[in-house]
Amino acid sequence: MNVIIKSAAQIEGIRRAARLAIATLKHLTPLVTPGTSTLTLDQAAHAFITDNGGIPAPLNYHGFPKSICTSINEVICHGIPSSKEKLKSGDIINVDITVILDGFFADTSMMFPVDAKHVSSTAKRLVADTQQALYLGIQQVAPGKHLGDIGWAIEQFAKEQHLSVVREYCGHGVGIAFHEDPYVMHYGKLGQGIELKPGMVFTIEPMLNLGSPQLKVLKNDWTAVTCDGKWSAQWEHTVLVTDSGYEILTWRQDESIPRIG
Ligand code: MF3
Ligand code: CO
Ligand code: CO
Repeated sequence: MNVIIKSAAQIEGIRRAARLAIATLKHLTPLVTPGTSTLTLDQAAHAFITDNGGIPAPLNYHGFPKSICTSINEVICHGIPSSKEKLKSGDIINVDITVILDGFFADTSMMFPVDAKHVSSTAKRLVADTQQALYLGIQQVAPGKHLGDIGWAIEQFAKEQHLSVVREYCGHGVGIAFHEDPYVMHYGKLGQGIELKPGMVFTIEPMLNLGSPQLKVLKNDWTAVTCDGKWSAQWEHTVLVTDSGYEILTWRQDESIPRIG
């Protein structure tokens, strides 16, 4: 395992990429309405990122054909934007943005309700609990803590809420490349895994399901969906280990968790 400790200059580069990633999410927000196709979201993200001097990291990444991932309802992750797929009232969608800016990567995703008043209370709770799981994972981050502490906090909370944790995909180091060491499981045991050190930068991106954690990957070789068709949610941040705790590099101003802990 080769976990890169980022320099102050590298962290500043990742921070700039992170600002562009969250600005992209903000730019897309008014488009997340019934009738919009996920291809429209993809094209708007591509234009916004490139107009701001960035590159959408997913495009052509191991053959991924689009600039963002759009994962609706029972889609767990890696949904591929399409002109045929239109948002419907009551849907929940994850939009996952990874930006390269001046060679630095930042990765973040969030859930949107489509026409919130028509989203079921069960789906709303899934979305809120998954965001809470992300925050509980982030709050474990500090020098001297272990990767397993993050997964443990997420898994414990998911269990309490009777949600299941997807195990096939995980968080990852990020910054100089899209996916770096270490891999960040969303389940685990306290004190296990590598010790966290200042300058590490990684994502935490739990995927929680209403039903079973079992998934299958569609014929497009990317899109993961739940086997039972029940809905799934995901939230993702890029997090820096600081001398005293953490800094959420992809923190958005409308979030309630403290950006620096
Ligand atoms: N952004 C995703 C992640 O959080 C990875 C997407 S890979 C892609 O790690 F090729 F589908 F873009
Ligand atoms: Co990621
Ligand atoms: Co991502």
